[in-house]
Amino acid sequence: MKKPTAIKPASGKLGILLPGMGAVGTTIIAGAMLVRKGHAKPFGSLTQMGAIRLGKRTDNRSPLIKDFISLASLDNVVFGGWDLFPANAYESAMDAKVLTADHLNLIKDELSAVKPMESVFFPEYVKRLRGENVKKQTSKRELAEAVREDIRNFKKTNGLDRAVAVWCGSTEVHREPTAVHASLKAFEKGLDSSDGSIAPSQIYAYACLMEGVSYANGAPNLTVDVPAMLELARERQVPISGKDFKTGQTLMKTILAPGLKSRMLGIRGWFSTNILGNRDGEVLDDPESFKSKEVSKLGVLEQILQPEKYPDLYGNMYHKVRIEYYPPRGDEKEGWDNLDIFGWLGYPMQIKVDFLCRDSILAAPVALDLALFSDWAHRAGMHGIQEWLSFYYKSPQAAPGLYAENDLFIQQMKLKNTLRWAQGEEQITHLGHEYYD
Ligand SMILES: NC(=O)c1ccc[n+]([C@@H]2O[C@H](COP(=O)([O-])OP(=O)(O)OC[C@H]3O[C@@H](n4cnc5c(N)ncnc54)[C@H](O)[C@@H]3O)[C@@H](O)[C@H]2O)c1
Repeated sequence: MKKPTAIKPASGKLGILLPGMGAVGTTIIAGAMLVRKGHAKPFGSLTQMGAIRLGKRTDNRSPLIKDFISLASLDNVVFGGWDLFPANAYESAMDAKVLTADHLNLIKDELSAVKPMESVFFPEYVKRLRGENVKKQTSKRELAEAVREDIRNFKKTNGLDRAVAVWCGSTEVHREPTAVHASLKAFEKGLDSSDGSIAPSQIYAYACLMEGVSYANGAPNLTVDVPAMLELARERQVPISGKDFKTGQTLMKTILAPGLKSRMLGIRGWFSTNILGNRDGEVLDDPESFKSKEVSKLGVLEQILQPEKYPDLYGNMYHKVRIEYYPPRGDEKEGWDNLDIFGWLGYPMQIKVDFLCRDSILAAPVALDLALFSDWAHRAGMHGIQEWLSFYYKSPQAAPGLYAENDLFIQQMKLKNTLRWAQGEEQITHLGHEYYD
């Protein structure tokens, strides 16, 4: 990736387009509105609250990230999106029950004005849902053109300077890439013949990239993680990133595993289970959608722990992940982990983690940061896979042939060093020898 020479300022308005306006989608929209009106603080968001150290420890330079790089301000953001259900963002947020009615009523008018555009939906990709707010075209080429038109209209109607997209739609069934994903040419032919391997999420992604709209993928479906989309992102010079927001249990895993490994503590088993009762939980109750999630959740430990390098410590680790749909919990998921670890001379120990979290409360700031950072990257001329955004993903996209980095602390360093690098500041290595001369 070439070092940016000039970064265009964040002038004018930014559109944030959300394919999927359910629990996470409406929590971002409502959250941004509450924050900009001063009703709440954007906890959990690095772009809104995080600082970055510049120069030496003795320099005392630690500006807020949003003051260091030219990020779009929440005041200049306009939300839009698509959903299977025609409910407006207020109705949908009330239904999702993530935020309280007290909170939502503070922004009722503004939130009610956000209405989902008609979606692209093929029931075989999300088996547990049916909705009526669906485009009527049957040809995949025509559907892609219709989404492109939606984007152009949305930009025009709202007087936007530019737009970004973050997939907050349901998890699609697990699919391996096929010949139609192997090149842009094959993909475009596939659109013409309505190839069955082209998922709804890929129609949005194609339309976005064609319109110069960056695409971040919050779910584990392949979407932009195929050669055809990499080619298109390169051709159109647009940033892409994915997959699957790293929020609850996997966030905990990528915090704990690097710590245990750094002290050479062994792990015999790691059993993770979740109970959740929101619509996402219902969709994941379908084995094919769960498969997408399972693949995304399982890969993390393998990469961090490097069992091939440390066979005595991690070679026989048994790792199991379960997600159980349990309606009484709604969005308030419980993620429970049991770790069987061992230390000096092989003596066993156990760690239990019981994370009583709120799924969409954790995901919303991640989605917002991805939108704002992707917009910045685009203005900085960065395109293709944005590996520095792996900090936000369970299953980060990396260049073909390159393993993805899952350790949260390495990911954070990569993110901050990317910002320093792009802004012409020195990298921070934490060597610190200069303080002892
Ligand atoms: N909340 C988290 O912590 C978290 C973490 C990682 C990933 N995710 C992923 O984020 C996504 C959203 O989660 P959620 O809790 O908001 O789920 P949700 O079910 O509340 O919302 C998803 C919405 O997407 C819509 N949808 C499905 N297919 C669509 C299509 N083709 N076009 C337009 N809309 C479509 C559905 O109608 C629904 O309203 C899921 O894929 C989930 O797995 C969430």
